[in-house]
Amino acid sequence: MKSLFRYLDSVIKCSFDKEGTTRYKTGAVILTPAEELPKDSSCTIPDGMDRGRSLWDFVSVEETPDGFEICISLEEDQGVFGLGQGIGCLNKRGRIYEMYNTDEPDHAPSKTKLYSTLPVFYLISPRGCIGFFLDHAGYSRFDVGSENRELLRITIEGPGFDFYAIPGSPESILKSVLELTGSSLFLPIWALGFQQSRWSYPDEKTVLDIANKMRQKKIPCDVIYLDIDYMDDYKVFTWNEERFPTPRTLIDELKSMGLKVVTIIDPGVKAAEGYEVFEEGRQRSLFCKRVNGTEYRPAVWPGESRLPDFLNSKTREWWGSKYSQFIDVGVAGFWNDMNEPAIFYTPESLSSLFELAKGLEKDKGIDTEFLFGEIVAKKRYHDYGREFYQEDDFGTKHLHRNVRNVYGFNMARAAYEGIERSAPERRIFNITRSSYPGIQRYAILWTGDNESQWEQLLSEIRMVQSISLAGISFTGCDVGGFGGNCTGELLARWTQFGAFLPFFRNHSAIGTRDQEPWAFDEEIESIVRKTIEMRYSLLPYIYSENWRSTKGESVMIRPLVLLWPEDSDTYQADDQYMFGPSLLVAPVYSPNATGRHVYLPESNWLDLNSGEVLAKGHHWAIAPLDTIPLYLRENSMIITTKPLQHIESASWNNLRVKGFVKKSARFDLYEDDGITRSYERGVFSLKRIEVEKREDGIFIEILPSEGELRIEEREIIFEIFDGERTYSASVKDCPEGMALLIK
Ligand code: GLC
Repeated sequence: MKSLFRYLDSVIKCSFDKEGTTRYKTGAVILTPAEELPKDSSCTIPDGMDRGRSLWDFVSVEETPDGFEICISLEEDQGVFGLGQGIGCLNKRGRIYEMYNTDEPDHAPSKTKLYSTLPVFYLISPRGCIGFFLDHAGYSRFDVGSENRELLRITIEGPGFDFYAIPGSPESILKSVLELTGSSLFLPIWALGFQQSRWSYPDEKTVLDIANKMRQKKIPCDVIYLDIDYMDDYKVFTWNEERFPTPRTLIDELKSMGLKVVTIIDPGVKAAEGYEVFEEGRQRSLFCKRVNGTEYRPAVWPGESRLPDFLNSKTREWWGSKYSQFIDVGVAGFWNDMNEPAIFYTPESLSSLFELAKGLEKDKGIDTEFLFGEIVAKKRYHDYGREFYQEDDFGTKHLHRNVRNVYGFNMARAAYEGIERSAPERRIFNITRSSYPGIQRYAILWTGDNESQWEQLLSEIRMVQSISLAGISFTGCDVGGFGGNCTGELLARWTQFGAFLPFFRNHSAIGTRDQEPWAFDEEIESIVRKTIEMRYSLLPYIYSENWRSTKGESVMIRPLVLLWPEDSDTYQADDQYMFGPSLLVAPVYSPNATGRHVYLPESNWLDLNSGEVLAKGHHWAIAPLDTIPLYLRENSMIITTKPLQHIESASWNNLRVKGFVKKSARFDLYEDDGITRSYERGVFSLKRIEVEKREDGIFIEILPSEGELRIEEREIIFEIFDGERTYSASVKDCPEGMALLIK
């Protein structure tokens, strides 16, 4: 075993390789290590909980026949938070998870793996914290104190891996993860709007009907999605000429209504003679090959297909260039799906299933019953990872299983880089289902095929926090649930949660009942409308926070344990979270509920529904169906505007600052054109708004704006509550700033 230790500021990088093997470097980490430690280094942890201790006092690494094993001893009061897209509590202690990207439409509590691998985790106790990131593109299994409560055992398959140990506070660990893996792409502002999707709106007329209904019913909306049925025979990068004969006209018409179109893109290329994408990929040898060197022939939506080998930059460049034809007809964004990659079957797996199915000809009672089950399970859970290989830029062949976890990452990267090449001035809207750390540089991550079930609403509340702990800020889930039939009550509650997610999209599966905001009764429609309006009114706050997330400082969704690790009551409070620095959100996730339990950490909070001030501690929040419990943190502010039907710009005339300020608070309001990259050349406005409680009143100062965007003189309404009374004033804001004392 070869090992190497390096320091990256406060991060210790440990690399382990089997002698004589070559592994694929994932591309997740963009920071280069500073200094190599001497071989006999004790890896002393410089700061945090384990100050002065050596890493090897509680971590061990051993080589095994298939790879390696890392053991980390856990202390009684430590929680293990993170691990990305896992089902279950934010604290993963007591369970087993696997890191192996999988198309898993069943998000049941027993599931150990989903679409993404995000092996970033934090050991947190009130005494201190240490974070870890396992950078490994192949299979690994995390037994997080399941077999033995005191041991976190990581089994790693493959020729080698990098492992980062990051001592410090959870917030500084997260910052280091962002330094290592890169900060978030800066999306266009309409990415923060409400988005409507379904598998599938089958034709142009239906899409226009949905758009018209949104506008007639005055439900704010910015995006409509085209799922797989817009394609000709599921051939990627084509249009179905019967059902979508005039995409450019359709897109223009939607544009005139203030709506953008996002299309789905799948990696499976239909194997059809004469189909350009297939022919080109085959001729240039850009598809994955079987281990014996022949063509690999997996089937996905279009039947027999080919999978582009995204490990290779030649393939990425070729694939990325395909997006331009859609950009040319006006498509605003792309949704990269099925990129674990999902495989339904291959000729070989299909024939072995048929072979097995021969057993069904005999009527053997329970054995026949079991065989039925076995066939279904074999079809669904067959692992294709050992059947084909991928080739990197140096010509090294890697068994797919050893690099699987970066397939989706590299597809999203190909899309991002291709879009950037063909529309360099445009901010990129790119979504992915499968991911790996660093994906935040290229795409939004959504959580895939959940179900319209209350339990899954709770599961998503936890999952988006866990994903955020891996440094992925722009995330969200299918609002209302993808599979199964939603109910009006569930849609109302899920929309309330969705309004406080970066990515806010209602999406549902084929064969399920309609789930658009008007699909239930008038009461539900009006609750959904009001909730979406609330989201649109919060855009100045959310947009500024989103901009901050692109600076690598933090993420939008912040688990309570990230901010208050010394308070162990936050460890269980994973059904609520901070959305930006000021707002605590506690979505309701039970049927027939008229309220829920909420834990408020730190100090006092302003209940934004009742107007009451609540002290640190456990509370019962009253929340009838039209209410989501929301709290404003002491000494903080939010900035709102008048909700519109769609987002017109990222600078606002109607601004209202609401604050709960006993001492002082500040907020940096960021504005720009919302769509181009002119901000990179200084065309933006950043203003610091400061509010201070003084003996004689509330002192407000708006500092001169930074950046070259000139905001015309405008009014800002302030409503500052100091715990006893509200101070209100309408203030004239201009680029030079202003100051005022409200008595
Ligand atoms: C996958 C996606 C889902 C999409 C469907 C059809 O299941 O996760 O969102 O609607 O494929 O394209």
